[in-house]
Amino acid sequence: MAAALLKTIDRAVKSSFSIRTSVFPPARFGRSVARCLSTTPAKASVQTTTPMPEADGFPGVHTHQDLYDFSLREPDTFWGTLAKSRIQWIKSFDRVSDCDMSAGKIEWFLGGQLNVSVNTLDRHVQKMPDKVALIWERDEPGTEVRITYRELLAMTCQLANTLRSHGVKKGDRVCIYMPNSPIAVAAMQACARIGAPHSVVFAGFSADALASRIQDANCETVITTDQAVRGGKVIELKKTVDDAVANCPMVKRVLVAQRTGKEVPMKHNLDFSLEEDMCRQSTECTPEIMDSEDPLFMLYTSGSTGKPKGILHTQAGYLLYATMTSKFAFDIREDDIFSCVADIGWITGHSYVVYGPLSNGATTVLFESIPTYPNPGRYWEMVERLKINQFYLAPTAVRLLLKFDESWVKKYDRSTLRKLGCVGEPLNVEAGDWYSQVVGEGRCDLVDTWWQTETGGIMITPRPSQPGAEILHGPMRPFFGIEPVLFNDEPGPDQGKELTGKDVSGALCVRKPWPGIARTIFGDHERYLDTYFRPYPGTYFSGDGAHRDHKGYYHITGRMDDVINISGHRIGTAEIEDAMDEHHDVAETAVIGTPHEVKGEVPYAFVILKEGVRRDEEDIAKELKDLVRKTIAAYAVPDTILITPGLPKTRSGKIMRRILRKISTDKEEELGDVSTLAEPSVVDAIVQSHKAYK
Ligand code: WTA
Repeated sequence: MAAALLKTIDRAVKSSFSIRTSVFPPARFGRSVARCLSTTPAKASVQTTTPMPEADGFPGVHTHQDLYDFSLREPDTFWGTLAKSRIQWIKSFDRVSDCDMSAGKIEWFLGGQLNVSVNTLDRHVQKMPDKVALIWERDEPGTEVRITYRELLAMTCQLANTLRSHGVKKGDRVCIYMPNSPIAVAAMQACARIGAPHSVVFAGFSADALASRIQDANCETVITTDQAVRGGKVIELKKTVDDAVANCPMVKRVLVAQRTGKEVPMKHNLDFSLEEDMCRQSTECTPEIMDSEDPLFMLYTSGSTGKPKGILHTQAGYLLYATMTSKFAFDIREDDIFSCVADIGWITGHSYVVYGPLSNGATTVLFESIPTYPNPGRYWEMVERLKINQFYLAPTAVRLLLKFDESWVKKYDRSTLRKLGCVGEPLNVEAGDWYSQVVGEGRCDLVDTWWQTETGGIMITPRPSQPGAEILHGPMRPFFGIEPVLFNDEPGPDQGKELTGKDVSGALCVRKPWPGIARTIFGDHERYLDTYFRPYPGTYFSGDGAHRDHKGYYHITGRMDDVINISGHRIGTAEIEDAMDEHHDVAETAVIGTPHEVKGEVPYAFVILKEGVRRDEEDIAKELKDLVRKTIAAYAVPDTILITPGLPKTRSGKIMRRILRKISTDKEEELGDVSTLAEPSVVDAIVQSHKAYK
């Protein structure tokens, strides 16, 4: 029986490899893509829905609660069943999982072999080659480009063959520094096809930040574009890559795709035109046979200390988790147009722009622009024009847009919308109401999703909530297979004890392993264990706090460490401090997050100058902002830089950030007892400087 099944799978996989794909001439990339492809017809297919699609394959299970209970009771049966039916295997797995949370050991679908790009592309090309895979919503509205599954597979194969022709092989890390575009998706898929883990770096990061990520992953290959275009502005991407690569001797090749077609300096034997190389390559490419636990990609994210960590995800577990969470949290149906407006440089872009929707055979929108370009109606005009069914964004965009007149929303037809999702930061009540009532007219499900780079996919979400039902704020129920646990983190005898029951708040951890969890931090497994598995032994520690309410629903209360969240982007305050500490006039800095109406949080920096520095403070503040922009990225630049005579420290030298947070929010009456500080008088001095600054 199993052997017969294997044979069938083998046959299916082999036949999918030999699909003829149309030749893709270089003229169809870059500037000319729109002209050549915008007429591509999307083939209509039949819509299939069942009242509870999650229960497919689980006989006798009818309710969300039944399936959830089953997923915790019999995780191997639950995940194994899904993995068999939802993934196309080259060789099926022999064992569903081998995990030990207390040792940070996570392995799923052992013995299985697959190729992720075959799962996201070839298997759909077989059934519906002309279905649109990507709608590239370019910066200028109305210039969108449609790419079918067949075309995306052809591009992917040509790009994969290009990488191979340059000597890139299984296991080599490839850095991708590109804006949202079909060629960037093809680059990710091409890496998956040849088994070279990609490390996508958000194209808003500075040359220094890019260089440190290239160095940490030891990437020999970088893929980029000549320029990027965002909100009507041109960004010199290749120039940033040049500056980064100047400090990365390991880089052997930079493959440059065209976005604007502007001539950029190309170094001999280092820079190559990606399109020119691709057009010499076949549109077929034999996929590498990957083991379930081979690395698929790494993605850098900030921690509370030290440099950003290369979070590593593997093949089958990540693919299954991204597939199932997109399908179940957003109810993706066959003809849906799914739009997650994240950048591919973040995990949301990986899981819900690229891997999840493509694995489900959906049409996914690649948004290149910003929510206010050319005006604050951009999103809703796009919803009308592209007939979008699911919209997924960060709450910061909602907070920005609700400031404008509602007519910017109402003048566009949003009747296609069914699900309104958000992620990345807490959804405040005002933003949630506006999103669901003004945008969704009270008839769409509001899907607030809590998850992290490390979790690979959505962990807590309200699914299923019914239209018209009570609107719930905050991510609510754990996804199937996810068992959240809260631990007491208050100093005292009960610290570290599990909080059972309802109406409790504490450190949010997860007890059972799930297939999408990150497997390690690239090159630093000890840090992985220290950060996630040692704080609350036997569980994964998220770094977030949460409240379990009287109904058993979860509400995220925010980070418990020194990571802040600016417009849904994570950054460790230590990284900003490290950047500013490089300034020759600076003795010490302390950065905290302080609330901001639109961005959620912004960095607020307290800076002590070296003895004897007598320069203009405004000049220094400006230089410090430039330094952060140059070392990290524009989004990390502190809103406020306050030069102070000292910092509140304990006698052992630890900075009391709690005090700085109170001062920054004008709550000095809540400072409490400061007499235990090494120098209590410093607090008054900081309060005065803060007041004078305002
Ligand atoms: C925060 C983004 C409140 C949280 C997918 C987490 C949230 C961090 C929510 C991960 C939410 C994410 N409500 N806070 N719905 N979703 N967060 O790795 O602090 O970029 O730890 O992954 O964002 O950010 P990351």
